[in-house]
Amino acid sequence: MKYSAPAKINLYLKVTATLESGYHELDTSFAYVDVADELTISPADTLSVTCSNPRLNGELNLAYRVLDAFRQQHGLSSGLSIHIDKRLPDRAGLGGGSSDAATALMVANNHWGVKCSKEALMKFAAPFGADIPCFLFERASLAKGIGEQLSDYPRALPAGFILLAYPGVGLSTPEVFNCYDRQASAAVALTHNDVTDTIRANPAPAIGDNDLEACASSLSTEVDELLKELRSVSEMAWMSGSGSTSVALFENRHEAEAAASMLLERGLATWTHVGRLLNRHPLESMKIGA
Ligand code: C5P
Repeated sequence: MKYSAPAKINLYLKVTATLESGYHELDTSFAYVDVADELTISPADTLSVTCSNPRLNGELNLAYRVLDAFRQQHGLSSGLSIHIDKRLPDRAGLGGGSSDAATALMVANNHWGVKCSKEALMKFAAPFGADIPCFLFERASLAKGIGEQLSDYPRALPAGFILLAYPGVGLSTPEVFNCYDRQASAAVALTHNDVTDTIRANPAPAIGDNDLEACASSLSTEVDELLKELRSVSEMAWMSGSGSTSVALFENRHEAEAAASMLLERGLATWTHVGRLLNRHPLESMKIGA
């Protein structure tokens, strides 16, 4: 059976606190995009994960680690054979690895008859990656905490077409946050929770506002150049998560496709996608725990 693991983007991202653990509290929002990795999952005696990108094969794959811990927690020795056809770029701010792990966990939960609730799965999976819960939540969301305290995104998602553009280099999430910390200690103030409460109350929320963008741009000229070019062709362009992919909104598909072709031709992007934002996870109808 084949299952989708969609990309996510952050519609905005504010860093609200730094924690002793090194993690950061965020105020952010997640929406899915109509582009996905594809997982082929079949019953098997042992657990195995293979990937079209050989670097992500085997027991180090996040999907393997999450499922192995999940079966141990429930005293199971069950297996599954999982093949991941990787279509999303890596270290891209699109949550690809987390999405693969979330899809694998949803399928394993039903297939192994564990039937954990969505809330229990989110709590279990968060320590493996702060982005996994937003996929298990199955709906576009607002997030607090390290990105795991989720509630429904309360407004319509931006209409029109979105262009995702990956600049050919990935970014390390810890490195981007470290850069942010260095700037914060140089007196760049954190966005405090009372400010983000105002952002949330605003009928036109702060779409496109990403506190990590300046750091990502300073770490990578590719990110910087891509963002500048996107801003010259779209009224709304910003970076997703900790990068390196950027997002731009367009009123019609033709304009978005023309921008994608231009970026690819000029070598400012090596991967692009033109499509729509999604409010619902493609596996929502599978019903977690049912
Ligand atoms: O949880 P995930 O694997 O995505 O996080 C990778 C790294 O990114 C963490 O080890 C941490 O350094 C940083 N991070 C953070 N605050 C978050 C999410 C991630 O500092 N909310």
